[in-house]
Parts: sequence; C-alpha cells; structure tokens
Amino acid sequence: MIVSKTWDPNSWRRHEALQQPEWPDQDRLKESFDNLGSFPPLVFAGEVRSLQKRLAKVAKGEAFLLQGGDCAESFNNFTADSIRDKLKVLLQMAVILTYGLNKPIVKVGRIAGQFAKPRSKSTETKNGVSLPSFRGESVNDPYFSEAARMPDPKRLERAYFQSAATLNLLRALTHGGYADLRKVHNWNQDFVAASPEGQRYAQLAESIDNSLRFFEVAGVTAKNTPMLREIEYYTSHEALILEYEQALTRVDSLSNLQYDCSAHMLWIGERTRHLDGAHVEFLRGVQNPLGCKIGPTATAEDVIGLCDKLNPENIPGRLTLITRFGHDKIGDGLPKLLRGVQKEGRSVIWSCDPMHGNTFTASTGHKTRSTEHIFQEIEHFFEIHKAEGTVAGGVHLELTGSDVTECVGGSHKVMEADLNQRYETTCDPRLNARQSLDIAFRISEILSN
Ligand code: PEP
Ligand code: CO
Repeated sequence: MIVSKTWDPNSWRRHEALQQPEWPDQDRLKESFDNLGSFPPLVFAGEVRSLQKRLAKVAKGEAFLLQGGDCAESFNNFTADSIRDKLKVLLQMAVILTYGLNKPIVKVGRIAGQFAKPRSKSTETKNGVSLPSFRGESVNDPYFSEAARMPDPKRLERAYFQSAATLNLLRALTHGGYADLRKVHNWNQDFVAASPEGQRYAQLAESIDNSLRFFEVAGVTAKNTPMLREIEYYTSHEALILEYEQALTRVDSLSNLQYDCSAHMLWIGERTRHLDGAHVEFLRGVQNPLGCKIGPTATAEDVIGLCDKLNPENIPGRLTLITRFGHDKIGDGLPKLLRGVQKEGRSVIWSCDPMHGNTFTASTGHKTRSTEHIFQEIEHFFEIHKAEGTVAGGVHLELTGSDVTECVGGSHKVMEADLNQRYETTCDPRLNARQSLDIAFRISEILSN
C-alpha cells in the first residue's frame, strides 16, 4: 500500500482525537510513550502480511472471518486458563463454522491488547459522587474511587507486558498441538453430549465427525499434516489510545513500510470514526488490515468516505466494515450501505457485530444482551447479503471461554435473575462458552440447510 505524502506517525496529533483520557501528567505520558517505543514489537510485519492475504480471500467470499474475545481485557483475570479457554472456544466455533460455511475460517482474537474503552459519558456518578469513567485497564482501574479512576500512563506499559505474555502463550498453544483438529472436535462432541442446548446439534456434530474420519481413512492425520494440528491465530484490538499505537509502530526492514506492531489487525470504534479525526488519520498510514465499526447513524456517503481514506487503492482485505446495528435496525440500515458500496465498486469485508446494537438493562440493573437478539441480527445479516448478492464476510463477537452469566438466553437459559451469579466483565456483557458454541451451531444449521 502506498502511503500518502501528508502522513507521518505524528500527523494524527494535528487532528481532533476523541475519547482520549485526561492524563494528569504529560511528562509521565511522554516517559511511557518513550519506553513503549523502545520495547520490542508484539507482532511482526510478515504475520500481518499473512493476515492481509487471508482477509483478501474473505473479501472475495473464499474464506470467513471469525473475530471474538473480551469487550475489555482485565489485569486481574490474567491467567493461563482464561487465555487458553478463550482460544479454545474460538477454535471450537471455527470447526463448527467451517462445516456450515464450507470455507476456511480466519481466526482473529480480541486479545493481547484490548485494554482501552471509549465511553458514552466521561464521568460516572454513584450515590452523588462523580468520578472519571473507567476507560479500560490501560488507562485506569474499574474500582470506583478517586485514586483508582485517575488515568495513569504506566498502565499502558503494563498492558504491553500483559499483551506480550498473552501472545507468548497463544503462540505456544497454537503451534504446540493444542489446536489439533480432532481434539477440538472432541470438545465439541462433549458439548453436544453434555448439555441440553448441545443435543440439538448431534446430527451436525456427527456429520463433522464423518468428514474427519474420511480424512483419517485416507491417511490425512494430524501427525503427517501440520495444518491439522497447527493453526493461524491473529490478534486485534480497538486502536483507541493513539500514543500506545504510535509507540508500537515500526518501519519494517523488508518493505520499508510502517506497521503498527501492537496487533495484527486494528479497528476504529463507532465513536472515533470521524473522517477528519485523529484515529482515521493515524490508521490510514499503517499497513495492517483495518476494521471500522459502523452503527445505525452511518450513511453510504460516510462509508465511502472511510473507504477513500482507509483504502484508497481498493485493496481487497484491507478494510473490514464491522456493522453493529441491533437486531431491529439491521433490516433498515444494512441494505443501503451495501448498495452504496457496491455502486462505487469498493472492496470491503462486511462483518456483523451483533453485540453492540443489542445491549439493554436487565431488571436486576445489569447491562446485558439476549442470545436471541444476537442470533437474529446474524441471521438477518446472512439473509440481507444473500438478497443483495454481496458477501457476508464475518462475525465479530464479545465472548469468553468461562461460564460467566452476562448475556441472557441460550437453550440452557441464563435468566435475568441469574446474571448476578457470575457477572465478571469490566465492560460489556460477553457470551459464555456454551452460548458461543450454541451461536456457532445455529449459524451452521441455517447455512447448511
Ligand atoms: C467494542 O467493540 O467494545 C465497542 C466499544 O464497540 P463500538 O465502537 O461498536 O461501540
Ligand atoms: Co464492547
């Protein structure tokens, strides 16, 4: 990708940066920025190029993007088990979706860097006390006290080190036999056998099993075929704190081009996607594949504007538009955008985020989402693309590998009254492992019928 002459890693500073923390001490911010700039990259340009190639296939309808993970990673829940379980659920979903879609699945975690959050209000008020909102662990602490909520740039460095350790484990797991296709399928069979929601899918799981057995009989096994035991797994996060992203942006010695080495893929949030804003300015200059969230207020012109800025050469796979309308708004909102983009001949990946347009407050006061609404938005997404003749390229989910109770529904019914049991997210409600598998099976069910 050619870089515009008006871009440099600092050029975003001449644009308005929304959703930035009010750092109390600019010298300390500069110190963390300099430290991060001297640390090794978290990902490598060659890996980013591989993802770009995979995403080019997604754009053409030859592969499917599965992106998912926490709304916000946390400093407290930082254990090998929680990282492993998040990988595990994504791998399990990928096997199910490969079957339903008949396409390779490109797996991208919201992980190893998803530490900064945009907020609708800059302060939070409890019992008459107003404090700065929690903006993600790389900025401040979720605990409601003045000291905890004070933005501290040292946290950016801590987020970097946690990302490095997370990536280290992910690399070991994805190349050390943990991702063996047969093993992943056996976990899915356990889910099918052990849970009421799973039993619906016994037939589907059996068909996957038959396909795997056919390969084994034909002599294709995990032992002799690395592709069955090693997987490509990529990282992504919202590029929100631009000091962090700039500090980790490096010139690749092979291509002489700038890569943001904080993650393979970066996305711009719904609240920071203004065409003249600092986030669009910064990300247009890096080579990484980019995402941009698109909510119900976006017009076809806005979307074309984003294509002009973020993908002026119209490279397939460079730009993923992640729509987040809500199950009741996607029918009105999505077709217009698809037509506008198609008319202008722009290549984008359309991915469905069925989470952020479907949040509501439960009777218990918890912020929650219903798996029914989530599934409905995904179902409409596929129907609309079919009707418009466009490619339904991917899904983008907030999920976790453990047994939390944050979203309601699933055939194993988490009820509103259950939300209090394990409501652990520091930001938005996530699908738990069973709800995630349930969604993957339901997608496969509708697509393979
Ligand atoms: C998110 O993905 O957690 C998020 C804040 O999304 P959006 O920008 O779409 O609101
Ligand atoms: Co979220």
